[in-house]
Amino acid sequence: MNYEQRNPVPLPDGQAFQSVQTTMETVFDWEYALKRKNLLALYEKGKAAAWNANDLDWSIDVDIERMMKQRQEMGMGGMLNQVLNPPRTLSDEEVIALNLNMNGFLLSQFLHGEQGALLATAKIVQQVPWEEAKYYAANQVSDEARHVEVYHRYLTEKLGISYEVHPSLKQLLDDILSDSRWDVTYLGMQIMVEGLALAAFGMMKVMMANEPLVQDLTSRVMADEARHVAFGVLSLEGLYTREMSERELREREDFVIEATHLMRERLLMHQVFDRMGWEREIWVPWMMETPFMQGFRQMLFSKIVPNLKRLGLLTPRVRRAYEQLDLLRYEHGKDSVEDPEVAPPQELVALLMNFLSAEERAALP
Ligand SMILES: [Fe+2]
Ligand SMILES: [Fe+2]
Repeated sequence: MNYEQRNPVPLPDGQAFQSVQTTMETVFDWEYALKRKNLLALYEKGKAAAWNANDLDWSIDVDIERMMKQRQEMGMGGMLNQVLNPPRTLSDEEVIALNLNMNGFLLSQFLHGEQGALLATAKIVQQVPWEEAKYYAANQVSDEARHVEVYHRYLTEKLGISYEVHPSLKQLLDDILSDSRWDVTYLGMQIMVEGLALAAFGMMKVMMANEPLVQDLTSRVMADEARHVAFGVLSLEGLYTREMSERELREREDFVIEATHLMRERLLMHQVFDRMGWEREIWVPWMMETPFMQGFRQMLFSKIVPNLKRLGLLTPRVRRAYEQLDLLRYEHGKDSVEDPEVAPPQELVALLMNFLSAEERAALP
């Protein structure tokens, strides 16, 4: 894909390249037994569903500012001040700037997460013992390269606002990539990071209802991610309930709890406030406490919780941690094998609808 990089993504600590030390075992499977039919079926699906980033209509004129102004004309600014109850009343210009930056921030973290997925899945190809899982993971590697491609192009060519990787996301990706245990690569990437991304993509589609390019891009990426999360669930099924010692299981619980905290921190978006020149000490606590943002963050765990439950990882310790974060409300939801789709919870969609213009509401499915 050939495109002009007009607005390069900022570099973390000014560094273009960063390496992570990893020690792992690369495993041959000389048996080629292909016993796991569900993984083979997923592999066939993945091959058939591949798409080309060039197929998207890159000629679409993306103008989020215009979209925000349309929203403002129907009173979004007042609505935002009312619902989000910010530390001080925001002017119309500030509401637009905040929206543009939050949007650029979220899409940038999608980009960085996609690069993490590209590397983590390449690692799974080497680490996982079963041939059919290697096949599927190889197929996922090419999906992830495509995802990096489309988000990068969208951010640099179309949006023009982007952010470097959030330190908590970088920490989590480093943890996943440097861990020597093959199942932890899956647990971190397919269950936690991709589980959260799947829910976040669903929200992005509602928030940017009137932008056809991001709609098309997100729908395509979501369809791939739904398979990736299912790949994780199918691969890890039975492992934690039958094959692990108490100590090994405890280590996985620790990993899940730590990953959950890192993912929540990233959603506090301190980099956005830094760039706006707003005091982090005031705005980050607001992000933590305002009910709308709390609901938004919780919703992002709506797929992770049922998947952890299916894998037997919603253990008493994890439950205690999740209870404190009020995440157990999702435990009776459908997991990614029963239902690969992710629809954002109705109450949040209803709230978001208030911010959309009539035209945008009509554009929603
Ligand atoms: Fe992806
Ligand atoms: Fe993925």
